[in-house]
Amino acid sequence: MAKKLWGGRFDKETDPLVEKFTRSIQFDHKLALYDVAGSIIHVGILAKAKYLSISESESLTTELLNISNEIRNGNFKEDPNCEDIHTSIQNLLESKLGDVALKLHMARSRNDQVVFATKLYCKVTTIDLQMEIRALVSSIDGLIIENNEIIMPGFTHMQHAQPVYLKDYLGTYKKMLIRDIERLEYISNNIKITMGAGALAGTPISSEEYSKTVDDFFNNPQDATFKQFKELFQIEPTANSLDSVSDRDFVIEIISALSIVAMHLSRLSEDLIIWSTQEFDFVEIDEAFCTGSSLMPQKKNPDVLELIRGYAGRLNGNLVSVLTMMKGLPLTYNRDMQLDKEPLFNSFEIVSSELKVLAGLIKTLKFNKAKIEACLEDESLYATDLVYYLVDRKVPFKQAHTIIGELIKYSISSGKKIKEMSEEKLKEFSEFLKKEDIIKLFDPKKSVESKLSIKR
Ligand code: ARG
Repeated sequence: MAKKLWGGRFDKETDPLVEKFTRSIQFDHKLALYDVAGSIIHVGILAKAKYLSISESESLTTELLNISNEIRNGNFKEDPNCEDIHTSIQNLLESKLGDVALKLHMARSRNDQVVFATKLYCKVTTIDLQMEIRALVSSIDGLIIENNEIIMPGFTHMQHAQPVYLKDYLGTYKKMLIRDIERLEYISNNIKITMGAGALAGTPISSEEYSKTVDDFFNNPQDATFKQFKELFQIEPTANSLDSVSDRDFVIEIISALSIVAMHLSRLSEDLIIWSTQEFDFVEIDEAFCTGSSLMPQKKNPDVLELIRGYAGRLNGNLVSVLTMMKGLPLTYNRDMQLDKEPLFNSFEIVSSELKVLAGLIKTLKFNKAKIEACLEDESLYATDLVYYLVDRKVPFKQAHTIIGELIKYSISSGKKIKEMSEEKLKEFSEFLKKEDIIKLFDPKKSVESKLSIKR
């Protein structure tokens, strides 16, 4: 049984089942580096407030920097028997430095520590994820450049609507992803990292001392990673210690933004799944990004895309789980809040792997120009252009809409193409329908280029 950060008032040993049940080290070890960063600042604060001598603070800081190097080099191994990562790091310090490490927890609680570390984790991981989103955006850009001229049927309700550029269709996903980058940035910038909340009621150290130490830490970062942190965030003394330890809005906001990213990736996947069916045959997904069937030898399935679509459900579940976990909690810290981490980490991990695999898959897509062009033969795609043609000849829109509706109905029931109808037949629908004019409207390029409202 590993040493705990508490125990004086207990006579009995903790039941092993309780040890196991309450433990979070199996997932919160991910916070190790951020916990150490907080500890280094806290050592500075204790020294400033004279709870530590200069030499004590130096030895603690040196050891914490060693631990941070080990974490970064992958050589740090948390003790799986500890309650959480904060305990594991504290025990390690005690084993290396002896009694001086016992002073570190003055004015400090895991309630405050865990929020600090989780906020820092969110900020740093958000930056990495934004880079991964950018990589996917650039894969989509490559596809847009390659297929710049392709025009395709646009859909509403999954029915043929009007011709659109494939580059605009793909550009829609770019827009979504850029909004995702901005949303994550906005949320991340709004996360205020605070210190000095203690367990809930604040600490006996003045807020000025907290501010000064944080300034010193940033003006003189002892280590490259912490120098990088300097650009990422500010730390403030808490303005309301109860709020600092009981707030998990930032977790909910981040998971919510990640759920939106996952929803976007799911929609993109769904489009590609549909487009790669034999029936559509708009696009070919590279074999390296498909899987087969154990029974049907002919199969080449878009499982990657299906999993991305499926994972969107997991992301939503993660969001709902944290929202539900929080909704009934009285102030301030409650142990329920430990359960925010798995959904948070899981959402980041899933979206990150989706972005990477999709960026690779997108690069391999080959569009079937001939098949897409064949679909543009459908005259109904130009029905709205015919309506606009009549409106330009002073027919009121609603009337024009009915006339073209009737023309389409006749075309379907008679099996005759509008382009092939005689001038006399067309005139039965409207005197303004001149064959030599309207024949030119069944032209995908003309149709898309006539939409002048788009500011390109
Ligand atoms: N591991 C906990 C969490 O993630 C922090 C521990 C707080 N424990 C406590 N007894 N106050 O929320």
